[in-house]
Amino acid sequence: MAGKTMQAVQYGSYGGGATALKHVEVLVPSPKKDELLLKLEAASVNPIDWKIQKGILRPIMPSKFPFIPVTAVAGEVVELGSDVKNFKPGDKVVSMLEIKKGGGLAEYAVSSPNTTAQRPPEVSAADAAGLPIAASTALQALTNCGAKYDGSGNPFNILITAASGGVGHYAVQLAKLANFHVTATCGARNIDIVKSLGADEVLDYKTPEGASLKSPSGKKYDAVIHCTVGIEWSKFEPNLSERGMVIDITPSPGTILSSFLKKITFAKKKIVPLLNVIKEEDLRFLVGLMKEGKLKTLVDSSFPLSRAEEAWAKSMDGHATGKIIIQIGDGL
Ligand SMILES: NC(=O)c1ccc[n+]([C@@H]2O[C@H](COP(=O)([O-])OP(=O)(O)OC[C@H]3O[C@@H](n4cnc5c(N)ncnc54)[C@H](OP(=O)(O)O)[C@@H]3O)[C@@H](O)[C@H]2O)c1
Repeated sequence: MAGKTMQAVQYGSYGGGATALKHVEVLVPSPKKDELLLKLEAASVNPIDWKIQKGILRPIMPSKFPFIPVTAVAGEVVELGSDVKNFKPGDKVVSMLEIKKGGGLAEYAVSSPNTTAQRPPEVSAADAAGLPIAASTALQALTNCGAKYDGSGNPFNILITAASGGVGHYAVQLAKLANFHVTATCGARNIDIVKSLGADEVLDYKTPEGASLKSPSGKKYDAVIHCTVGIEWSKFEPNLSERGMVIDITPSPGTILSSFLKKITFAKKKIVPLLNVIKEEDLRFLVGLMKEGKLKTLVDSSFPLSRAEEAWAKSMDGHATGKIIIQIGDGL
């Protein structure tokens, strides 16, 4: 592909939101010896993408400007580095691009085989593109809670906040597959959707009952997967079982301090900050569940690459129900 150009969407500095995204024609990247070149069919926008643009990981990320954002993608392998063994051109895959380098809002991107899994024909590119950040975070949070998917786990009570969101809607489905009793929070308009994903009890977060986080059937939570911001420990604490824990995927500095203090004081109730590290085996497991029809991606909305800025603005708005997908090339 040396010398070939492609359509891409990039930004040139921190800040600016959707209006700072520019459509450009750039060279197709070349895979290094341990990389794959993917022809992209779909990508999903995740909050981390626009948080990096805002500068929350400044100065480490982006690694340089201009920057092509987005890292959760699905597509087809078109070229292999000389050291890559387990893939061949034509393989359909789902992949997590290196977060520092981005590259997903483009027709082609390079990725590592260590964060790429094969995708069978039953799993569409759009459905798969939701998996690398959102579903894998839900999976890791549930693993931290002791979830097992072979029937050998404990039937825990779990609370999932923001269950209508990208991470939350996968967390509800995975928690049910692990045989957990699920209480979920979401806005009124999404209650039926969240119930249809399997939640046993759903609270409207804008009501006093929802804000209290109390289980309507009086259950104490063995674990909470906390997928939104702005809820204090004092709200979780009285609703936890004796050894209950909160897995916080949006930890503030205060959460990290609380977590440390609870650890050194051997507190029974814990708060655990989670930073997702994407692994090929997790992607493979999630793709397998999708193939079997046990896990689905709820698509909030879908945009062609030529309208990527609308997808970006929608994600920044914070009210997606499920995943925001960008369709690329033939994936349209
Ligand atoms: N630690 C990690 O590795 C990791 C990985 C992935 C994501 N995250 C973070 O996790 C957060 C969630 O990500 P996401 O992709 O799920 O976001 P998202 O898809 O943008 O979440 C949007 C959803 O959250 C709901 N929501 C907002 N505030 C709520 C509240 N107080 N109670 C209940 N529901 C609420 C919204 O419902 P309404 O429209 O009804 O308000 C909407 O459906 C983000 O901050 C993201 O950066 C962290």
